[in-house]
Amino acid sequence: MPLLLLLGVRAHIAMVRRHGLKGDAGRGDPQARWWPGQAARDAVAALISVAVVTWMARRWGAPLDAPADPASHFPAVPTWFFSPLSQLLRYFPGPRQVIGTMIIPGALTTFLALLPWIDRSESRWRRALVLSPLLLAGLGAVALGVQQRRGLAKPAFVRSLREAQHTAWRARRLARAGIPPEGPLEMVRNDPAVRPGELFAQHCGPCHAVRGLSQQRKAPRLDGFGSREWATAFVVWPDHPELMGTTEIHDMSGQRRRLRDEGVRAVAEWLYSRGYEPGESAPDAALVAAGETIYRRRCTTCHQGEGDTSETEAADRDAPNLDAWGSRAYLRAQMLNPGARENYGERNHMPRFHDRMNERDLTMVVDFMRSLRTRPAPAVMEQPAEPHALT
Ligand code: HEC
Ligand code: HEC
Repeated sequence: MPLLLLLGVRAHIAMVRRHGLKGDAGRGDPQARWWPGQAARDAVAALISVAVVTWMARRWGAPLDAPADPASHFPAVPTWFFSPLSQLLRYFPGPRQVIGTMIIPGALTTFLALLPWIDRSESRWRRALVLSPLLLAGLGAVALGVQQRRGLAKPAFVRSLREAQHTAWRARRLARAGIPPEGPLEMVRNDPAVRPGELFAQHCGPCHAVRGLSQQRKAPRLDGFGSREWATAFVVWPDHPELMGTTEIHDMSGQRRRLRDEGVRAVAEWLYSRGYEPGESAPDAALVAAGETIYRRRCTTCHQGEGDTSETEAADRDAPNLDAWGSRAYLRAQMLNPGARENYGERNHMPRFHDRMNERDLTMVVDFMRSLRTRPAPAVMEQPAEPHALT
């Protein structure tokens, strides 16, 4: 292309030399006129343009978006000067596309190419008439451009544009720490700031609800999972529609009636302490001890783990082992094999993830689950006196 352009310029100069410039500047010897007056004017104009472009480049720079991801819903928009063309295309969908891409622009270009033969009159009015299609095309282009820019103000578009800008911002921030050998796309896809949430939405979202990621209600809501509040809600009303209500396991209902308010507080504190990590709100030691006593006496008739088995034979204790409830190890075990005997056993309805995620993804989801501990748990108040109707 540059070579063709150079040839074109060379041909143009040859023509100017031969025929002279049209208008006042062209009278007389073309070479004498070109040098030095016209050359100086050209040089000044070129210098100004280079200076303006340099200043703009320094001031705004070239935008750097996120690496192109074929799997994303990137809201592709043409640059402003292409808006009229892209808007024109919208009026010619499918097989009629050629009208917008070739025929109309082609007709305009042909008209421009033919101008020297069409526009020969000296009369101003006739010239204006001949040039009027250009004016119309210009107005049409402006109208199309405005129309396209208007379409960009739609909320759905603005939202996806913001998302794209946010991804771009993250990509630039991540790139500062160096781009991994797998490439920039992998870098963005493994961003520790969002990847865990994406993995959760993808693997767990089809069943578990979590605010902002999934609204499904096929399994307990996991906002606040591992916290005192979640444990309390579960003991108070395990079959609430936000908890086990949507599953087929309902052995927990009725536990609340065997405990006083203080007892509920104590077992919830004990459960919370099972997954406690330094840096979190410290469990109350006295409450934990009281909770542990209650749990070992009342709950281990069903729940596996250490405990008094006087009421039931060990073989009948088929409820999950909660001795490490909410800890990373517990979460890993639940994801790797929820149907294991110490988890949900034969009644399990959750898939195993041992072959669906690699080690890194698994750790990310565990991290994400841990981050849910500080979110508000489902607001489950006391169960109504009439037992919650289950069908
Ligand atoms: C096909 C639906 C489904 C998917 C997908 C699923 N779960 Fe579950 N999950 C369940 C059900 C149902 C239960 C209740 C116990 C059972 O049936 O095994 C459960 C229980 C749990 C529990 C025990 C706590 C509780 O609320 O009782 C945890 C923790 C858990 N899931 C985490 C996850 C994580 C993390 C993922 C994603 C890697 C995931 N689940 C994917 C259906 C699902
Ligand atoms: C009758 C047997 C039985 C007793 C007694 C029992 N549980 Fe459960 N528990 C279960 C079963 C079965 C599940 C699985 C979910 C369900 O049935 O709702 C469960 C689930 C749980 C869970 C949710 C586990 C998870 O995956 O997150 C908690 C928390 C819990 N029980 C706490 C307690 C506490 C505290 C007590 C004592 C006050 C208790 N349970 C007594 C049978 C029992």
